[in-house]
Amino acid sequence: MKANIVVLPGDGVGPDVTAAAVEVLEAVAREYGHAFAFAEHSIGGRSIDEHGTALTQECLDACRASDAVLLGAVGGPMWESPKSAVRPEQGLLALRKGLGVFANLRPVKPFAALSEASPLKPELLRGVDMLVVRELTGGIYFGRPKGRVHERGRVRAVDTMQYDEVEIERIVRLGFRLASQRRNKLTSVDKANVLETSRLWRETVEGVRPEFPGVALEHLLVDSAAMQLILTPSRFDVIVTENMFGDILTDEAAVLAGSIGLLPSASLGESGPGLYEPIHGSAPDIAGTGKANPVGAILSAAMLLRYSLGLEAEASAVESAVSAALAGGDRTSDIGGTRTTKEMTNSIVDRVGRLTGTHISVKENS
Ligand code: IPM
Ligand code: MG
Repeated sequence: MKANIVVLPGDGVGPDVTAAAVEVLEAVAREYGHAFAFAEHSIGGRSIDEHGTALTQECLDACRASDAVLLGAVGGPMWESPKSAVRPEQGLLALRKGLGVFANLRPVKPFAALSEASPLKPELLRGVDMLVVRELTGGIYFGRPKGRVHERGRVRAVDTMQYDEVEIERIVRLGFRLASQRRNKLTSVDKANVLETSRLWRETVEGVRPEFPGVALEHLLVDSAAMQLILTPSRFDVIVTENMFGDILTDEAAVLAGSIGLLPSASLGESGPGLYEPIHGSAPDIAGTGKANPVGAILSAAMLLRYSLGLEAEASAVESAVSAALAGGDRTSDIGGTRTTKEMTNSIVDRVGRLTGTHISVKENS
């Protein structure tokens, strides 16, 4: 198959890890006879430096016209002053909104080979296999008014948490549907004891519930959910939640996997291209040093193959190659090893070839 993929390396380790993911996609194309064309654009801090804005119209148009978008990370100390008028993160938020990708899927399934990489006891991690479905284009990230007001000699800052029932319904329905394709359990996370948006959220979840009689539903308050994630993580199947709660809980859930560098995500809309990015940030301190873990980006590429291109066998091959590399002892420094980004990537690329059986590895006898 032919596919046009836009690559947005972004800032910090973004270029390191997207290069790794592109290498893996190129290996998949070779092994399975696909033609993937890659077009690179700038976003975030790099786009601010080049164009004065964190996302150009040209970049957004290119993303919209593509089959899928692969993104690294945005942000860094150079653009961090709280007084800056333009910030790298604005580019990412505008891209998510511009593509209409309201559903952010973040699977968390620790690799057996890495049970020692997590600070949690191995018995707590047994059976952990969850999918966090985070609402991505609403809530406090986008609500208006937003900004600063000067009043009677004081500065006041305002953010607005806001949801309408249609926004809630579509993400919740997806959560139920995904749960019905997994272990039939859905946990809806909110703060309904305090927030009006959460009360509407909970009411909307109850409204959708009758469509999925086979799915067991529970409501959890976000503070309690944060605790349960560490105390009994294996109880979760699909978690559905609003934008900011999902942001916070998935960084916490990354501890279960052992490193935030391992976790991928897919952001999907009703139609149009999906956006694929590791959940980690730009880690400017290790950018270009070869220390970045490429696995989160590579697994995001696997999700791209699955959700945007419908290539399930290829997606599974990439995931198996990652598992095999980790089982074989390949580790970047974040998970206690010494492999560089490049070495880790080569090992995975090599295994993608071996899995299809058509590739003769140059390293086979080493
Ligand atoms: C994430 C990140 C982003 C978010 C930032 C970089 C805007 O933390 O994708 O989780 O908060 O959504
Ligand atoms: Mg985050």
